[in-house]
Amino acid sequence: MNIITCVAPVNIAVIKYWGKRDEKLLLPLNDSISATLSVQQMHAKTTVMASPGFKEDKLWLNGKEETVHNQRLQNCLQEIRRRAKQNEDDKVNGVSNWYAHICSENNFPTAAGLASSAAGYACLVYALAQLYNVTGDISGIARQGSGSACRSLYGGFVRWHQGSACDGSDSIATQLAPHSHWPEMRILVLVVSDKRKKVSSSSGMQNSVKTSELLKYRVSHCVPKRTEAIIKAIISKDFDTFADITMKDSNQFHAVCLDTFPPNVYMNDTSHAIVNLIHAYNSASGKTKVAYTFDAGPNACLYLLEHEVPKLVSVICQIFPPENEGVQYLQGIPVEKQAVSQEF
Ligand code: DP6
Repeated sequence: MNIITCVAPVNIAVIKYWGKRDEKLLLPLNDSISATLSVQQMHAKTTVMASPGFKEDKLWLNGKEETVHNQRLQNCLQEIRRRAKQNEDDKVNGVSNWYAHICSENNFPTAAGLASSAAGYACLVYALAQLYNVTGDISGIARQGSGSACRSLYGGFVRWHQGSACDGSDSIATQLAPHSHWPEMRILVLVVSDKRKKVSSSSGMQNSVKTSELLKYRVSHCVPKRTEAIIKAIISKDFDTFADITMKDSNQFHAVCLDTFPPNVYMNDTSHAIVNLIHAYNSASGKTKVAYTFDAGPNACLYLLEHEVPKLVSVICQIFPPENEGVQYLQGIPVEKQAVSQEF
């Protein structure tokens, strides 16, 4: 029997992925860019066992047994075994023929718009790749579990290339810059609600593709320019430009959600109050010091530089005391050096 345990962090996009051109292969309509958070705070932990004695694949999520007959999990398992077989020289009892038992848990709320599926599938695919001796790029496999998962396989700043091949072979993630390039960068997660979101990202974006005119404009006219501009800002450590683009892209993504019919409303009054606070904070500072971004949920992720963390945290504590407004916050999370890793 082979057994392995891995941990993988979440990533928070600054150029959002929203909309697929291929639902089965999970191919996106646009490139996206993110930073990977330190694995210490928010992570998925997955243990995978493979044995010639197992009669079937099995899966436990946060302690509860779930079906393995789900297309995305099957995509990942089949692709891992196909790649493992290529390395085995036709061995009848090679590891590629073994069934797997998978146990995965998150140390943060699942499906509350906190990138839980990204960490979960990155962790699963990394663990499977170790166990089944699969080498080379595996981000294209993690992508088939959950699109944004491909970005959690790398530390630092990461780009998911939309690619153009029909089979998805060039829709992979690459590292733009390691965490050491901009070590002062911090991410503050404000948990406004840890409830499961009403509309999942997958079905929300499916509806946007069907109904939103704004999404077409975003994909053709806005994201390509923004992607190039934010890469330059990351490379030159230009926080002002980085922050401006991050906030504008989050706002446009939520505008697309509202342009979807029926609309997807992910942000709530507290989220909007946080947006107002950050704009007021930046204008009082005379400079852009903090950027907000929201995924498919009400929780805010704030990008800022390390020296700004104590001041911002004290302002947030005054305005949204955790006991009154229910905003919990995680202190300045650094960008992660190594993304997924094996636990010993
Ligand atoms: C708003 O990767 O969760 O967080 O590919 O259908 O699993 P699927 O969607 P998912 O969508 C993430 C959407 C987002 C933006 C982002 O992370 O880029």
